[in-house]
Amino acid sequence: MSAFNKLNVFLLWSLSLLVALVSWRFLVLGVELSMPAMMHHMDGAKMAFYAHVFFAPVALAILPFQMSNRLRMSRQSLHRWMGRVYGVAILIAGVGGLIIAPDAATGTVAATGFFLLSTLWLVSTGLAIWFAMNKRITDHRRWIIRSAALTLAAVTLRLQMPIGVGVWGFEAAYPVIAWACWVPNLIVAEWYLSRKPALMAA
Ligand code: HEM
Repeated sequence: MSAFNKLNVFLLWSLSLLVALVSWRFLVLGVELSMPAMMHHMDGAKMAFYAHVFFAPVALAILPFQMSNRLRMSRQSLHRWMGRVYGVAILIAGVGGLIIAPDAATGTVAATGFFLLSTLWLVSTGLAIWFAMNKRITDHRRWIIRSAALTLAAVTLRLQMPIGVGVWGFEAAYPVIAWACWVPNLIVAEWYLSRKPALMAA
């Protein structure tokens, strides 16, 4: 494995697990203390918010295990079981995302970005699992790469926030980041898929 690939694998594992663990801080500290900017969801869609912030990190924490070639080859039944958990977590967190997105901080532009992201997250993951169940492994790989790119929006967003908010302030940066956290991920995934048609063949 090249040094560049090793770095990518290291970043995938460390950032996915770190962001997932930090996201569960509300379980210990409560939403008011740990996510004060999210308190507006406590009035309306409280259950949808809790479903989202509990289950979305489950999908993110599972992602590096599912992407590992070694684990996939050596523990196929574990891969299938973790795949089911990944799918159910995204079903719950994605529907939660659809419900809370219209009330996202700063208004319509951010709300639309998150709503579209939730929709694509549910569709790409649903298709990936449907293809796996029908033994269409090449199609499964293609769609799970899209799903993974969207799951990783949680990481991209948390890398972009300190820079964006530091430079432009929250009100200006947040609507841009609601799109910038996932559109480039999807472009990179499409570029990767277009470069590796042979590798994608089962
Ligand atoms: C990929 C599709 C996703 C969509 C569409 C989405 C959407 C949203 C929305 C709309 C909010 C509320 C934002 C606001 O009110 O301004 C939110 C918050 C949150 N989301 Fe997601 N999210 C996604 C993925 C994830 C993932 C994979 C994680 C895993 C870590 C995650 C963890 C959280 C957490 C922890 C919050 C509370 C905000 C905070 O971090 O303080 N989300 N999400």
